[in-house]
Amino acid sequence: MTVVGSRLILEAIITTCSHDDSMHVAPMGPEVDERLEIWVLKPFQSSTTFSNLHRTGACVVHVVDDSMLIAEAVLGRANHYPAKRLGNHCFILEAACHWYALQVVDWDTSQPRAVARCEVNERGVARPFFGWNRAKHAVVEMAILASRVHILERAAIANEIERFRVWIDKTAGNREREAFELLVQYIERANGSQQ
Ligand SMILES: Cc1cc2nc3c(=O)[nH]c(=O)nc-3n(C[C@H](O)[C@H](O)[C@H](O)COP(=O)(O)O)c2cc1C
Repeated sequence: MTVVGSRLILEAIITTCSHDDSMHVAPMGPEVDERLEIWVLKPFQSSTTFSNLHRTGACVVHVVDDSMLIAEAVLGRANHYPAKRLGNHCFILEAACHWYALQVVDWDTSQPRAVARCEVNERGVARPFFGWNRAKHAVVEMAILASRVHILERAAIANEIERFRVWIDKTAGNREREAFELLVQYIERANGSQQ
C-alpha cells in the first residue's frame, strides 16, 4: 500500500554543469515521493555539485544500476561517462535507466547542507532497471563509506567492509567486484594517510 505523502531517499547520480561548461557527475540522495514528482536535493555547500547547481539552477538526476558508475562518481572520476546535452546546463548520462531534469525553485542555504526544492522540467526512460542485487547495494554502501571516510572510525569502517564483502562474494558479477575493490583501495589509502 502506498502511504500518501510518504517521502524517501533515492540513491542516485546527479549531473550538473561546471563553470567551464563541462559535465560534473556525483552521487546524490534526493528526498522524493513515491511517484518521483516531488524532489528535494540536499547538497553540502562545500561540494562542486552545490556551486554548479546554485549558479545554474539546473541538474539531471539519474536512476542507475551500474555500480562502477556510482564508485567512480564518488571518487570524482565519472565526468568522462558518455552523456548527451539537454538545453544549456543539463547532461543526460547514457548509463541511466531513467532520468529527471530538475529546476531549482527554492533554496535554503542557512545550513552547511543546503536544501533545494525542485520541479521536474523533463523526464525520460531509457531502459529497464536491472533489479535488486545485494552486491550492487554493497557498492552503494561502500560509496557512502568512501564519502565519509574522514569522519568515521577506522574499526567501524573495517567491520562494514567485511560485512559487505560477504554480499560481494555471494552475489557479485565482475563489474560489482571491480567497483567494490576500487572503493576498498580508496578507503585503505585514505585511512593510511590519516596515520
Ligand atoms: C549514495 C550517495 C548519496 C549521497 N548523497 C549526498 C547528498 O544528498 N548530499 C551531499 O552533499 N552529498 C552526498 N553524497 C556525497 C557526495 O556525493 C560526495 O561528497 C561528493 O564527493 C561531493 O560531490 P562533489 O563532487 O559535487 O564535490 C552522497 C554519496 C553517495 C555515495
